[in-house]
Amino acid sequence: MRTYAIRTFGCQMNKHDSERMAGLLEAEGLVAADVLEDADVIVFNTCCVRETADERLIGQVSSLKALKTGGRPDVVIAVGGCVGQRDGTALLRQLPHVDVVFGTHNIEELPALVAAAAEGRRAVSVLDGTDRFASDLPSVRERRWHAWVPITVGCDNHCAYCIVPAVRGPERSRVFEDIIAEVERLVADGVVEVTLLGQNVNSYGRDRYGAPRFAELLRCVASTGIARVRFATSHPKDLSDETICALAETPALMPYLHLPVQHGSDRILEAMNRGYTRSAYLERITRLRAALPDIALSTDIIVGFPGETDADFEQTLSLVAVVGFDHAFTFIYSPREGTPAARLSETVARPVAQERFDRLATLVRDLSLASNERQVGQVHTVLIEGPSRRDVGTLSGRTPHNRLVHIPLGDDGVAPPAGGLRRVRVVHAHPWFLTGEFTEGEV
Ligand code: 5AD
Ligand code: SF4
Repeated sequence: MRTYAIRTFGCQMNKHDSERMAGLLEAEGLVAADVLEDADVIVFNTCCVRETADERLIGQVSSLKALKTGGRPDVVIAVGGCVGQRDGTALLRQLPHVDVVFGTHNIEELPALVAAAAEGRRAVSVLDGTDRFASDLPSVRERRWHAWVPITVGCDNHCAYCIVPAVRGPERSRVFEDIIAEVERLVADGVVEVTLLGQNVNSYGRDRYGAPRFAELLRCVASTGIARVRFATSHPKDLSDETICALAETPALMPYLHLPVQHGSDRILEAMNRGYTRSAYLERITRLRAALPDIALSTDIIVGFPGETDADFEQTLSLVAVVGFDHAFTFIYSPREGTPAARLSETVARPVAQERFDRLATLVRDLSLASNERQVGQVHTVLIEGPSRRDVGTLSGRTPHNRLVHIPLGDDGVAPPAGGLRRVRVVHAHPWFLTGEFTEGEV
């Protein structure tokens, strides 16, 4: 039996696309390999948002060269996703032992491209766009009880540093009724949590219906009977009062929001073309907390954008402290060829950016720990995700606020099933996770 393996880099949209790639390959009779190097077909689903992801890809693909030269010349190596979309045929020159290159708009061609490669032809296919959503394709869900549901693809915002609009294309919204029908099917299939996906979910519907319909979509998705709804990513400039209201009024919408601010200084926000000011962002946070006092907030922050001064960076630190994020994902600016920011000359020296990054990371860690410490003693309904990656004697799960909880199993070792909801008392806080114990009570 022929086997496949998929290695996924990058965002949640890529994770979703990988589940579709797995579905397509299994529909052709391939089965998942336990170990990547043993597979007959190896797919890299790639990310180009920062240089580090590019470098990791090149390292990992290059290390497979030995497979082909050392006794397994028939292994098919495919590179898809954002790097495939960006580089096309040029990838074959850089990585000569790659057999297949495909892009973000033509996942469904993967089986045909793999078949061509198996017959000895190198196959490259990259499209400029498509009207189809990968959701129509077969899928193998990584977690039986969770599904990614794309509601938009692409992005119209053109933030100065971001390559995404170039590789995912302009924003396109999926048909409202198609999304609801998919969630209904997922509920019938035992899924308890969906994550709605889009580069900017808040503007869902604008291209297709002339006005955003995200708040309405959230309420309709919640009314399918699904236990938990999450979504990513929200753009601060498009986070409407209607959406805040829907979040506050609908129990199935989890009380957690990822709202990337990117920077704390108005000067840099403008240079980034983000479309809001520091005070407009803070005003959105105030409104959110007025409606949902206990909402958990996370954000993305870029350090070392061209032209960033010490004073600008202090503004980032102060914004992070003022908001008191529960978590933040922090990045050192990485110039991406083809983006407007890549042409800016006033670059920040690497050691300066690194020093700022380290200061920010310390603040973020302290805030995460403080946020987690406030949970100790509280009881939450936790969605069990399965054994912890570090310790099979421990289960992992998520609270409604998206906090990761590890729960040691009792002496009997009996574990509630993955996908189950259980009441858990938090007993200890760490910066990046909680530990807890099962407790009685209704979920
Ligand atoms: N350099 C550094 N970080 C970036 N991001 C996007 N593009 C870049 C870049 N060129 C970050 C942003 C975005 C997250 C997904 O990645 O913070 O929100
Ligand atoms: Fe990139 Fe900005 Fe679009 Fe996000 S909103 S994908 S950062 S261009």
